[in-house]
Amino acid sequence: MTQQLDQGQLKKLAAEYAFEHYVKPDMLIGVGTGSTVKYFIEKLAEVKHLIKGTVSSSSASTLLLQQLQIPVFDLNSVDQLDVYIDGADEVTQYLHAIKGGGAALTREKILAANSKKFVCIVDESKLVAKLGKFPLPIEVIPMARSYVAREMVKLGGTPDWRNNVVTDNGNWILDIHNLDIIDPVALERQINSITGVVTNGIFALRPVNELIVASADGKIKVIK
Ligand code: A5P
Repeated sequence: MTQQLDQGQLKKLAAEYAFEHYVKPDMLIGVGTGSTVKYFIEKLAEVKHLIKGTVSSSSASTLLLQQLQIPVFDLNSVDQLDVYIDGADEVTQYLHAIKGGGAALTREKILAANSKKFVCIVDESKLVAKLGKFPLPIEVIPMARSYVAREMVKLGGTPDWRNNVVTDNGNWILDIHNLDIIDPVALERQINSITGVVTNGIFALRPVNELIVASADGKIKVIK
């Protein structure tokens, strides 16, 4: 009988696959945020002298990178990233994702936008037929919180303020439940047009390029 791996082991497997297949000498690497990426950062330490360096999507990831003496650059001091590696909270076979469970969505979206290739690493529980079961995170300017929440109710959502969380950019997070995300590209654009929204956690306008999914039997599936 094939041994079934737990979620942590699958995250590690996906991260190691990304490290082996997408990291090359002299690359400038965008590093996401979360428990899956943590395994990727640990692998990256093995080649820290061979890569050009990294740009980080959060203060949490920056801290981990620096603890392992992996070079971290400010995005404004470098050119386009060769690759951006990050996890997701939900992702579809059409390469649209929801991110921001760790409140790092804005910086993550900036790195994804500024990279040649966006590689998403997940365990199979994150692969869904349709986005929206995971509440959609929205980063908002603090004074706009109630206004944005009311606008999201008009769109059919149920907003929940992520109390006690301040993003790396000094803003707040609204988690929107019960959204019917039929057209992720259109909804991403629509929510981003609400005044006071910094960005929302739908990654569809700039989708994932390659999705690495680790399944419980230890196999890796790559969706492009
Ligand atoms: C951070 O804001 C999120 O976008 C993460 O990428 C996402 O929550 C994945 O996290 P895990 O790898 O911990 O599941």
